[in-house]
Amino acid sequence: MLRDEAARRLEELRRLIRHHDYRYYVLNDPEISDEAYDALMRELLALEAAFPDLVTPDSPSQRVGGRPAEGFAPVRHTVPMLSLGNVFSEQEVREFDQRVRASLGVDQVDYVCELKIDGLSISLQFVDGAYVRAATRGDGETGEDVTATVRTIRSIPLRLLGDPPRRVEVRGEIFMPLSAFEHLNRQRAAQGEPLFANARNAAAGAVRQLNPEVTASRRLDAFFYQIADAGGEDPATHHQALELLRSWGLKINPHSRLCRGVEEVLEYCREWTGRRGELDYMVDGVVIKVDDLAAQRRLGYTSRTPRWAVAYKFPAQRAETRVRDIWVSVGRTGQLTPIAELEPVMLAGTLVKRASLHNEDIVREKDVRIGDRVVVQKAGDIIPEVVEVITSARTGAERPFTMPERCPVCGAEVVRLQGEAAARCTNTTGCPAQVREQIRHFASRESMDIEGLGPAVIEALLEAGLIRDAADLYTLKPEQLVDLERMGEKSAANLVEAIAASKDRPLRRLIRALGIRHVGDRTAEILASHFRSLDRLAEADPETLTALPEVGPKIAASVHAYFRQPQVQDFLRRLKAAGVRTSDPEDHGAPAQGPLAGLTVVITGTLQGYTRAEAEAAVQAAGGRATSSVSRRTDFVVAGENPGSKLDRARELGIPVLDEETFNRILRGEAAPPGRPG
Ligand code: IVH
Repeated sequence: MLRDEAARRLEELRRLIRHHDYRYYVLNDPEISDEAYDALMRELLALEAAFPDLVTPDSPSQRVGGRPAEGFAPVRHTVPMLSLGNVFSEQEVREFDQRVRASLGVDQVDYVCELKIDGLSISLQFVDGAYVRAATRGDGETGEDVTATVRTIRSIPLRLLGDPPRRVEVRGEIFMPLSAFEHLNRQRAAQGEPLFANARNAAAGAVRQLNPEVTASRRLDAFFYQIADAGGEDPATHHQALELLRSWGLKINPHSRLCRGVEEVLEYCREWTGRRGELDYMVDGVVIKVDDLAAQRRLGYTSRTPRWAVAYKFPAQRAETRVRDIWVSVGRTGQLTPIAELEPVMLAGTLVKRASLHNEDIVREKDVRIGDRVVVQKAGDIIPEVVEVITSARTGAERPFTMPERCPVCGAEVVRLQGEAAARCTNTTGCPAQVREQIRHFASRESMDIEGLGPAVIEALLEAGLIRDAADLYTLKPEQLVDLERMGEKSAANLVEAIAASKDRPLRRLIRALGIRHVGDRTAEILASHFRSLDRLAEADPETLTALPEVGPKIAASVHAYFRQPQVQDFLRRLKAAGVRTSDPEDHGAPAQGPLAGLTVVITGTLQGYTRAEAEAAVQAAGGRATSSVSRRTDFVVAGENPGSKLDRARELGIPVLDEETFNRILRGEAAPPGRPG
């Protein structure tokens, strides 16, 4: 085919595909079959392969495969991205309306009510109609450049329709549909990977991905609700702005409504409080906006939020169901947790099957019995709770729960110490449930970070008798693993390699991994930076321990008692014999504490605010170690402009890469330093 002819056909194909993308992803109303669409796409790809110099960045072929963002460069927003004030009752909505009317000096105001999508806010720039940049909200002034990942979202046009101004900036919300979220979590559960707590976290994780292919596989979607900058060609009202967004091919939420006066606003709030469960995405309230944009400008802003809009937050979602049974789960420290097995019920977009009852006292206090009808509530994340029992629905057949006297898993004695809410199985080293949870904790991302060693694999290893505790992991050979279910030669070799890699973790991670009671991240860090070796920690008496900052008598007693147990001593001997590092290199005058205590950091590329030496000094001042080459020991890499091969190496090893802004936040103590991705 001739070049000219190819160019014409390419243009035609792109126009067609864009049109069908819009019909399918934005309007949910496709005009052609999937096969016909695929044929167009194949033809486009073939032609572009034949004429690579005719590929344009806004071609539908360019959704994935754009260069990953270099550690998410900071983007300063031309117009700050503000948040909204919240109100929680009808009374407060009326007060908002009164304030607005008083300021404007009118009797009634037109508002647009919109659903408040629980996703992450995004700002997009289009120049000459072409998608050029996407940025997260960040702190409102500066966000992160997520152009490459957001480009993969199919409902976001790479080229605007109609006749948009030369430069436009639009704002909206990226979210993961609940159906996609559940699918993702089912997949992760099957692979033994940690679950996302909710659709918003899953969406945020997908957007802040260095690899756009991962984002593309996550089925994200977006609604737009604001034109931040239309190059002066502003519409007169918010509802016209929404229409304009729609005419450019951007997806707007179909449930927005123009409400004349506060009574219609309240009607909308009531309606959606009841209907939010119908949606395939999470909404956490209603955004109420003054429709007239000139009036918005007159109302202006307080220091942080607009005076012309407010978010009405829905009350926590509740549902009624029945307790089929109450059983007891055994945790890592032997703690017995009563769990209510529920008749499955839809709540906040997920099917709820069980609820934690926390402990014996809470069961008694709430008087939850087997067979009871109960009200369950979702407190934000995955684990729902029983808020009340509908005692009026009792038939007399309900059975009260009693904590078993013997561990339901191993049959050992259960004790409840004075002053403690938890009952515990006393068989610390022999109870299969405790052992499984201990190994899980040992291998977890925040502890020894053994990639590929999820709950399913641990279960299989225990069942096959290949391990009895975490120290046995270091004796495993690939040939022993290949016969396990879902384990091929490649994954067996990878797992053995991942286990070997964990031998070299910093001491604080090893201490955390031991799962000593009352020793979490923070305490592990303090102990590691003070003792610098496990042997020295093991010898410490309670007085020495309590002398440390933030270590009280309870922690000291627990640590001291832990190392006195013969099984523990044997366990630690075997870890050492396997080559697990049990001490940190002596420090070079670095302070033992700070936000980066115990962490090894590599700086690469040019930073805006520091020379290389200044950045390394800042790491040291924060308790960390700055090294010049990336290895498995590196905890994270900070990448500036032109980062070079260290960045590639970090990606290869799966070490987190941060931008300067995040690094600054960590130094200021506003964000936690990352663990390695699991
Ligand atoms: S308007 C000046 N409309 O809620 C503020 N925000 O706390 C303009 N959000 O950061 C925001 N749905 O991420 C607006 N229909 C909607 C929204 C919405 C969700 C989020 C947005 C914002 C936060 C406000």
